[in-house]
Amino acid sequence: MKRKELQNKIRKLLKDRNAVLLVHYYQRGEIQDIADILGDSLMLSLGAAKADADVIVFAGVHFMAESASIICPDKTVLLPRLDVGCPLADMITVDQLVQARKNHPGVPIVTYINSSAGIKAHSDICCTSSNALNVVTSLEGDKTVIMAPDGNLARYISGFTDKQIIPWDGYCPVHHFLTVDDVRKVKEKYPRPLFAAHPECKPDVLAMADFVGGTGGILRFAGESDVSEMIIGTEMGFLYQLKKQNPKMTFIPASEKLICRTMKLITLNDIFDALSEMKHIIRVPEEIRIPARKALDRMLAIP
Ligand code: 13P
Ligand code: SF4
Repeated sequence: MKRKELQNKIRKLLKDRNAVLLVHYYQRGEIQDIADILGDSLMLSLGAAKADADVIVFAGVHFMAESASIICPDKTVLLPRLDVGCPLADMITVDQLVQARKNHPGVPIVTYINSSAGIKAHSDICCTSSNALNVVTSLEGDKTVIMAPDGNLARYISGFTDKQIIPWDGYCPVHHFLTVDDVRKVKEKYPRPLFAAHPECKPDVLAMADFVGGTGGILRFAGESDVSEMIIGTEMGFLYQLKKQNPKMTFIPASEKLICRTMKLITLNDIFDALSEMKHIIRVPEEIRIPARKALDRMLAIP
């Protein structure tokens, strides 16, 4: 089937099933093009919460579909394939988190949305890359905060608060392995480019950035800037949207290695098959969903 034909068939199926398609910016361009809601982790969680539909099809990774199911237990949440995990989310286990709580009694745990439902269920509040500082600041009475599982995000946030941040030692393998040398090499090729980086990158790389933010933040920064070239320190799939919304600008990946393998697995065919057969339903057991929802709701309530 030709791409356009398949895209039209998916759109028709979505209508027939009263379904919405939620798509993360790291997904393939041809999937971004047919999204009902396209966004970063926070926008997609908010979108799931407000979705007026019976079915949510989530083109993203597993924890994203899980979060949608936690927020919308009355909707059927489909993940187009089941092998789309997030290595960062796998860098923490419930046992380890329970132990950390014992080691730091009374210290609140802020958990990045890139985590399993089980981890969220043992957390005080969730955060995304775009609201992490607001979330930490909202914990008014607490002088110390544990941030898990992304150590780079935790270290980045610690530069903007007086609270003591205890970082987990997890990392996103896509962002963590971007180096100062990679960025330097790309910078040398362009006369005066700006460099925008995701807070999942290491501190030395972030120190080189003109702007640090989640994907939604980088998109706004690019739209408001008047430069013609920008180096992007986040996953490559995002360049598709940056170019689409800013056709006169040139966006350069900070490294050719910035590819999230699991974000790229989902295809239009997978979406069509999942919707046709209503397969790969993501559901979280109530005993995990209810405490996990508390942590997510607490985050979503922050303006
Ligand atoms: P954002 O969507 O919050 O920018 O996060 C990026 C990410 O790594 C998602 O897996
Ligand atoms: Fe996980 Fe990193 Fe991929 Fe995001 S980019 S889904 S954090 S591995």
